[in-house]
Amino acid sequence: MKADYKNWVPKGMIYGLVAGTGALGAGLAAALVLTKDAPAPVRIGVNAVLGLGTAACGKAAQWSVYAYNQFSYNGKRRMSKQIIEGIAEYVILPEGGTGLDVGCGSGALTIACAKRNPEAGMVGVDRWGKEYASFSKQLCESNSRAEGVDNTSFVQGDAIHLDFEDGTFDAVTSNYVYHNIAGVSKQEPLLETLRVLKKGGTFAIHDIMSEGRYGDMQAFVDILRKKGYEKVHLIPTDDGLFMTKTEGKRLMLTGSTLLVGRK
Ligand SMILES: C[S@@+](CC[C@H](N)C(=O)[O-])C[C@H]1O[C@@H](n2cnc3c(N)ncnc32)[C@H](O)[C@@H]1O
Repeated sequence: MKADYKNWVPKGMIYGLVAGTGALGAGLAAALVLTKDAPAPVRIGVNAVLGLGTAACGKAAQWSVYAYNQFSYNGKRRMSKQIIEGIAEYVILPEGGTGLDVGCGSGALTIACAKRNPEAGMVGVDRWGKEYASFSKQLCESNSRAEGVDNTSFVQGDAIHLDFEDGTFDAVTSNYVYHNIAGVSKQEPLLETLRVLKKGGTFAIHDIMSEGRYGDMQAFVDILRKKGYEKVHLIPTDDGLFMTKTEGKRLMLTGSTLLVGRK
């Protein structure tokens, strides 16, 4: 059995957008016939709304298929694999230690870190909600088995309030999670993740850290340094490291950055 890490673009989203484009297009075709003799403002208004809706939905469907193919573990580009393996390189665990992957999804990063640190353990936490319906705890566990990895465990939880004591883990990591969390400053889940990291532990956190989402990340880094954190760096990954600038723009991943360091 081969591991199946699914895709960051859910298949349901693609099917929904394709079906929506078809339905809107059919509605437009019907409206063109039915409003033929209607007063001009009604005819133009109805057809313009349906025409614009069809075009927008079609564009979104086209984008989702493109993104799906770029991210796919089975495609040519395999960008997800490149990103996951790139982050895992920074997750270093001592023998007998334990690391945490926040928002582990299908377990890809948890398992990649567990493979690189066979003498340590990795815990993956995720809320496994409706928006990523193909990801689940069972999927993470079956992916671990498929990879022949037995130093992982997975628990349900919320990145905003991690159910772990301060300083529980020897390393913490996360990939493309916090930008999904609505209604909070994205620095909040970052601080929550660092709360559960031991003094001396390493962190490697990757996300779209654009100013609009995260605020001033350089100031955040300065605060961590003042608190005594070491080797804290922001590494842009949308400029060749994990993707080209063009890919970043097309996939709406501009601002992708890796925050690394030691507590
Ligand atoms: C784009 S996926 C990334 C999954 C995984 N990190 C990877 O790299 O394959 C985002 C993940 O974040 C999880 N997530 C979003 N908000 C969360 C929260 N508040 N607490 C825990 N997990 C969350 C989602 O359930 C989803 O699995």
